[in-house]
Amino acid sequence: MESIIVKGGRKLSGEVTVGGAKNSALPLIAATLLAENGRTLLENIPDLRDINTIIRLLAGMGAEITRSEGKLEISTTAIDNCQAPYELVKTMRASILVLGPLLARFGEARVSLPGGCAIGARPINLHIKGLEQMGAEIEVEHGYIIGKAGRLKGADISFDLTTVTGTENLMMAAALADGVTHLRNAAREPEIIDLAVCLRKMGAKIEGDGTHTIIITGVEKLTGCEYQVMPDRIEAGTFMVAAGISDGDIVIKNTPLAALDGVVSKLQEIGLEIEPLTKFSEDQPLAGIPVRIRRRNSTLQALDIKTMPYPGFPTDMQAQVMTLLTLISGTSVISETIFENRFMHVFELQRMGADIEVDGRTAIVRGVEKLSGAPVMASDLRASAGLILAGLAAEGETVMSRVYHLDRGYSGFEKKLKALGANIKRIKE
Ligand code: EPU
Repeated sequence: MESIIVKGGRKLSGEVTVGGAKNSALPLIAATLLAENGRTLLENIPDLRDINTIIRLLAGMGAEITRSEGKLEISTTAIDNCQAPYELVKTMRASILVLGPLLARFGEARVSLPGGCAIGARPINLHIKGLEQMGAEIEVEHGYIIGKAGRLKGADISFDLTTVTGTENLMMAAALADGVTHLRNAAREPEIIDLAVCLRKMGAKIEGDGTHTIIITGVEKLTGCEYQVMPDRIEAGTFMVAAGISDGDIVIKNTPLAALDGVVSKLQEIGLEIEPLTKFSEDQPLAGIPVRIRRRNSTLQALDIKTMPYPGFPTDMQAQVMTLLTLISGTSVISETIFENRFMHVFELQRMGADIEVDGRTAIVRGVEKLSGAPVMASDLRASAGLILAGLAAEGETVMSRVYHLDRGYSGFEKKLKALGANIKRIKE
């Protein structure tokens, strides 16, 4: 078992580069299943456990995959089995992203049901309902979703609530369907735009990505292409908080600033100075630019935060910003509206001296003067980042166990923090 040890108190400084977006790379890799001919070359692929999982998933289906230094070359021409086994799906819920592409191209899929998750129930009913509306027959047997379809048919699908991977799954399925699909109340996350841009390069006809209505006109065939994954907005946001909590001054070299509106406005209200060092290009809204982050002055402001679908404040930044708020004098109220159980980090932060009260989906954070280092346990990916951030500011030593949660979504996190001056290391026990 590995742990991360942080000794708090160092001000971070210097430059850091964030990796490719996990939540873009996963659907993009799943989308290669749609390309009947040609190889797809994906660049800026982050080195993460979740990426390894989806690669193993596709390799198990018969995809030919070559990986080298941030690049993945995938050919799915020879896929001979349309299964996603429990052993892999249980470690990563995003495995469900193969369901739409498999049904659309092969007319069959056998994908394990993901099951429960530390941050909430996370059902996939909307993925299934949408595929059924497109003509797929879906049954659940022995813990597996068994899907069958002739060629899927375009449909008018209205999501009951906004779902990111649900929108991605149906957008991929619709790309090869017969006729036009409307996805209404679709998610608007930047990762959906990233996927749509890549699908268009593969030959898909998609309009309206980034809005609530996505219109997809199905085509007969898609072909491999070359595509560069956008930088990870949540990793960038996490480093912004690292600069704030350590009273540091850092430059994030490739910040996808336009995709971070909801986070940047809150961090500015808290009192961070977020200064773009080059102009942002309108034609490349997902590209990264260098951005400098530091405190505007010595006093930071408590405030209220409500997690919302994009462009609102992302649930994936809730734990990190909560950590920062624990050290800001005054009362902050955080409402988590996306996942019903995403406050597991609270109990660990309390062990470090934070004053937080949880009432259902609301956390009331009363700022304390200091946190004190303690042994803590990560409960999910973003919680683990929040705990390390707490360790950067805490007095003494914080030892975080269950590091595998962190490795699902942050590549070399402790190495990047160390390069910025943090006293941090990973140990094997
Ligand atoms: N939901 C349903 N039924 C469905 C689908 C979703 O009830 O069929 C509910 C969920 O239970 C949740 C809400 O809808 O309460 C929103 O869930 P969504 O489907 O949007 O989440 P997701 O697609 O499973 C993605 C990210 C998450 C991120 C959420 C919200 C990927 C691979 N995962 O999950 O990322 O928190 O959107 O933005 O894109 C992370 O990176 O740490 C992470 C958890």
